[in-house]
Amino acid sequence: MTFDVVVLGAGAAGLMAAATAGRGGARVLVLDHGSEPGRKILISGGGRCNFTHLETGPNCFLSQNKHFARSALARYTPRDFVKLVDRYQIAWHEKAKGQLFCDGSARQIVDMLVSECQDAGCEARMETRITDVEADADGFVVRTDAGDVRSRSVILATGGLSIPKLGATDLSLRIARSFGLKIVPTAPALVPLVLDDADPSLAGVSLDVVTTCGKKGPRFADGMVFTHRGLSGPAILQISSYLEAGGTAHIDLMPGRNALEVLLAIKKARPRALPPSLLEALPARLAKELAGGLGDVMLANQPDKNIKALAERLSRWEVRPSGTEGYAKAEVMRGGIDTSGLSSQTMEVRDVPGLYAIGEAVDVTGWLGGHNFQWAWSSGVAAGQAA
Ligand code: FDA
Repeated sequence: MTFDVVVLGAGAAGLMAAATAGRGGARVLVLDHGSEPGRKILISGGGRCNFTHLETGPNCFLSQNKHFARSALARYTPRDFVKLVDRYQIAWHEKAKGQLFCDGSARQIVDMLVSECQDAGCEARMETRITDVEADADGFVVRTDAGDVRSRSVILATGGLSIPKLGATDLSLRIARSFGLKIVPTAPALVPLVLDDADPSLAGVSLDVVTTCGKKGPRFADGMVFTHRGLSGPAILQISSYLEAGGTAHIDLMPGRNALEVLLAIKKARPRALPPSLLEALPARLAKELAGGLGDVMLANQPDKNIKALAERLSRWEVRPSGTEGYAKAEVMRGGIDTSGLSSQTMEVRDVPGLYAIGEAVDVTGWLGGHNFQWAWSSGVAAGQAA
């Protein structure tokens, strides 16, 4: 049998695209090698799925073309997804500004998407290994371990490389390459950082910080936590997406305050105290570590240049990670199918009519906070409508 649309991948983007295409009247087949659909949705947001961010926009994404996501995000917005969630009476809450989570469980989002696909008449075949996609005069042949499937259109939606144990593969990248598309180099993103000189005694210490990288890079004000191997927490995951190998991140450990003024005021008020007292605003274990270089010399006897050097370190702690925790721990992959070969309106490959690419497989990588799912929904709808 020939399908109108075959969607490769029953994840966030693929299910959304399938439901949209099916509702538009297309005969749709979804193929996935996993045992159930939406496995990353199920583990997302600590099991509650941070399903969108109300203030998303192209500025919340990394891409070689920073405008690419604009059209799809504007045509299917966070409010549109919230309407769908409300229609299914899934209760939700705004955890941090703009970040919407289910009150109950991420399972509700998967059930909703599956139900949307079923209502739209889509067929799904799980546990199907896809080996290749080829084009011929009538459209496409999708080769699988259960035989060939013919289709007028194919949507590449097998996601990125993060969490291989959940079935992540490079299938979409491989197929895209075979059709002549360029691939922007990929790397783990939204990922904990590994430091050569990590101090395991600090593991578990957490504090609010501001992370930055590069002169014009973004700044992320959020939590950071020391791990046995380095650093994690939302402010670290965010900046990790921007760090090139060998790059440097700067961390303000006393955000919103002038560290030098604070330290000099403490020195004046408590001249007989020892250096860790300078950092009483920080967790004690960290304070002890940071002030270690000042020895056991009373504050009154500390030259101001020492205090100044410490203040500089506090407000601009320079971190040069030796690496990251890799795809096993990364929330997403950055890079992917180069958007220069795709239409930003429809996600169709410019030179291969009928072939589309959506979701994380594409070089559009969102910040933490629901942006990645919104990209999956928006790009899925764009392709589903066009395919
Ligand atoms: P997705 O990975 O969802 O789906 C791809 C599908 O393709 C999978 O079903 C997979 O089995 C299938 N597949 C892969 N290779 C295949 C092959 N060779 N053959 C057949 N099928 C194949 N984002 C967010 O916005 N809010 C959040 O709360 C979170 N939380 C979160 C937590 C954790 C732990 C992770 C790892 C990730 C998140 N994310 C997130 C990111 C989010 O999960 C991710 O961006 C989207 O799921 C991407 O959707 P896609 O549909 O593109 O890929």
